[in-house]
Amino acid sequence: MQTLNDYEIIEKLGSGSYGDVMLAKQKESGQLVAIKTLEKRLLIKQKKQYQVFIEKEVLSQVKHAGLINLIASFQSSSQIYLVLEFVEGGDFGNFLKINKNMCEQSIVFYGAEIVSILEQLHMNGIAHRDVKPENIMVGNNLHIKMIDFGTANFFDESRLDESVKEKLREQREISKQDERLMDEIDEYQQKHKATFVGTAEYVSPELLEDDTCGPQADLWALGCIIYKMFTGTSPFSDTTEYLVFQRVRACKYEKSNKISQDGMDLINKLLVRDPLSRLGGGFGNSKNTYKELKSHSFFKEINWDQLWNMKGPDGIQINLKKQNLTQELQFKRQSSAIKPEVVLTGLVNKKTGQ
Ligand SMILES: Nc1ncnc2c1ncn2[C@@H]1O[C@H](COP(=O)(O)OP(=O)(O)OP(=O)(O)O)[C@@H](O)[C@H]1O
Ligand SMILES: [Mg+2]
Repeated sequence: MQTLNDYEIIEKLGSGSYGDVMLAKQKESGQLVAIKTLEKRLLIKQKKQYQVFIEKEVLSQVKHAGLINLIASFQSSSQIYLVLEFVEGGDFGNFLKINKNMCEQSIVFYGAEIVSILEQLHMNGIAHRDVKPENIMVGNNLHIKMIDFGTANFFDESRLDESVKEKLREQREISKQDERLMDEIDEYQQKHKATFVGTAEYVSPELLEDDTCGPQADLWALGCIIYKMFTGTSPFSDTTEYLVFQRVRACKYEKSNKISQDGMDLINKLLVRDPLSRLGGGFGNSKNTYKELKSHSFFKEINWDQLWNMKGPDGIQINLKKQNLTQELQFKRQSSAIKPEVVLTGLVNKKTGQ
């Protein structure tokens, strides 16, 4: 069983809701990895320990070029650690800021990669439910990888092996027992308040109305991301979260002359209030499946079988972390500025960075 001592922590890559994501090097192999840390007490307090189990289970069950690879997982008395393959080109949100005027060919390419990832998940009965640019990473080969299965669910448990179903049942029981410990944790949570600053702009209307959503919410988010790739803003963006939600509920978004005809037609077919009517959202025997989505004229140039073997689009820029890393590492070793126990404790407040 691995422990944190098997890794040399290098720096913080990002902060999650329950802990930080750290860049680290496996001491023995020298392999760079991303370690997602999850604070157990916060997970229990927010009844999310079952979700971590799902996150681990999804990443172990489904392997695909567009899904982050889970290398290992282990825990200490206070933390759960997920060791993930490190993706070095940053997240898709930043990527879109650097590549403001992507040509249509590139937009089609990234749109198709998201479709292919969602198809793989949905085929396996998994809904991601938090698809947004910050949860998509860009690799040095310019292909993308979906991360963050912290809100995923198995919408169709009949597709799972008996052994996995049994594990899910067991885990639900354990989670219920843990919730009894919550009183003790109250005080701790007051001190370490984690602020949710997730973006509301990719949330589907059914989540706002029924407080629940399934795989079709991922298709809604796909529509939002394609819109953003063309225009630079998400379709429901507004000055306050309240106004964003109002727009989402009303499904109110502007047409833009920056969006091609095929692009607009696809967006209009994804940003549909009724989840089952979203293109690709019918599943099963309906005539509205991934087959129909992938045959939309927007994707006419895409060879779906070769998508993940293709060279990434031309004229794209990314900030690669690894390039500067050797130098930074030397500096950090000399100054011993970062010690694992220091950087890994507690939560970073996303607003203040403290
Ligand atoms: N494999 C990885 N390689 C490089 N960076 C990563 C990796 N995984 C996560 N990150 C960085 O850490 C951030 C937080 O990770 P993640 O989204 O999984 O955490 P989270 O707790 O679910 O966060 P949130 O609730 O804010 O969505 C990501 O947005 C990304 O910047
Ligand atoms: Mg995230």
